[in-house]
Amino acid sequence: MITKKPIVAANWKMYKTPQEGVTFVIEICNLLLDKEKPTIIFCPSFTSLFHINENLPDSGIELGSQNVYFESEGAFTGETSVQMLKDCGVRYVIIGHSERRHIFNENNASLNKKLHVVLDNGLVPIFCIGETFDDRNAGYTQRILKEQLAKGLDGIKGQLIDRMVIAYEPVWAIGTGVNAEPKQVEDTHLQINELLAELYANELVKQIPILYGGSVKPENAKALIEVEGVDGFLVGGASLKLELFFKIIKIVNNNYMG
Ligand code: PGA
Repeated sequence: MITKKPIVAANWKMYKTPQEGVTFVIEICNLLLDKEKPTIIFCPSFTSLFHINENLPDSGIELGSQNVYFESEGAFTGETSVQMLKDCGVRYVIIGHSERRHIFNENNASLNKKLHVVLDNGLVPIFCIGETFDDRNAGYTQRILKEQLAKGLDGIKGQLIDRMVIAYEPVWAIGTGVNAEPKQVEDTHLQINELLAELYANELVKQIPILYGGSVKPENAKALIEVEGVDGFLVGGASLKLELFFKIIKIVNNNYMG
């Protein structure tokens, strides 16, 4: 049973037009009752952020972006600044998703700059870390996570650390239909907690929510949310379907004693 306020975040990736996004969020709001406790975050594409924010001013739903650029403005064709996101009502920013790391070659150094700019401007990063299949098979999971955390969080002050969310997303589980087993998730979340405690001799690290992501669906959500150290989910594919996403929210809600 989790005691931190759980988070269920939808990563829509490059799916849904602004109109489809608005309709989906309105429908989910109609299904949810006030008593649902998880923080629900939608991370649509940039083009939908403004529209969802305009249409849902008082819904209690949070908005997140899937990316940001680390400069505040300038000649950076195709990029989006933190201030632009803030003006669209964004509160959370996914940083370092494995698709950004692997398809768009984002590295620990650029992700570090993004984490700084997001935190410095009062937004909440959802910092994604995770090992590949080969890393895990070679026994390198802990080494990879340590490197991603140490380099990603370089220079980030201890007093800011509880303002972030970490998402553990094993690369081999993302979009594959194969989730990590509860025992693997438990062990890895524990390792992440230990690595954070090594980096920050600071009680605040205990308050960092650590989400699991990678093929979360209604069928496995109960077993995964029951895992010690799992404070919620970052959901890709199943967040695109109303019924599936709603079921996942319900399962997380039922497991929370807040
Ligand atoms: P998935 O994606 O739920 O489709 O595996 C998770 C993610 O990419 O964050």
